Amino acid sequence: MAVDESKRDFLLTALGAFAGIGGAAAAYSMVKTWDPLPSVVAGGVTKVDVSPMKAGEIRTVEFRGKPVYILKKTADTAACKNNANVKIGADQFTVVIAICTHLGCIPAYASETKQFKCACHGGEFDANGVNTFGPPPKPLVVPPYKIEGNTILLGEEGEEYKKLAPELKA
Ligand code: FES
Repeated sequence: MAVDESKRDFLLTALGAFAGIGGAAAAYSMVKTWDPLPSVVAGGVTKVDVSPMKAGEIRTVEFRGKPVYILKKTADTAACKNNANVKIGADQFTVVIAICTHLGCIPAYASETKQFKCACHGGEFDANGVNTFGPPPKPLVVPPYKIEGNTILLGEEGEEYKKLAPELKA
């Protein structure tokens, strides 16, 4: 019986193509498993461009699995006595880890009173993150940061951060 060479060539080509696609899919899957998990990526530096923020606006960003508040202060916000202000040009920001220094609840920002209020035990912090009432024993903690133009880099220790009092640092 005669062998149909064209059919055999076709089958060999098709087999080769399937093997190639399978190999590429396996390689793609392996490379994807080597990519760091989102949680690991979040463990690095978080960049926040604050140039679009308006006075009084507050943002919550994730930094190393924790919420961080970035508040652009208004002109009438009480002066910051503990030097934890983040200054970018003429603008001033409060940058704090949004975890109460009493027992770890997440305080909410009340824009009408310009306070961070903790619902757990009634703790209060002013707009600078300084504890003003209730059981919190110290101000909200400032995450390591560095300023680059209009961007705050959370996770890098810039000169401003290094000057902070040790009890304010993360
Ligand atoms: S956890 Fe915030 S006041 Fe107790």
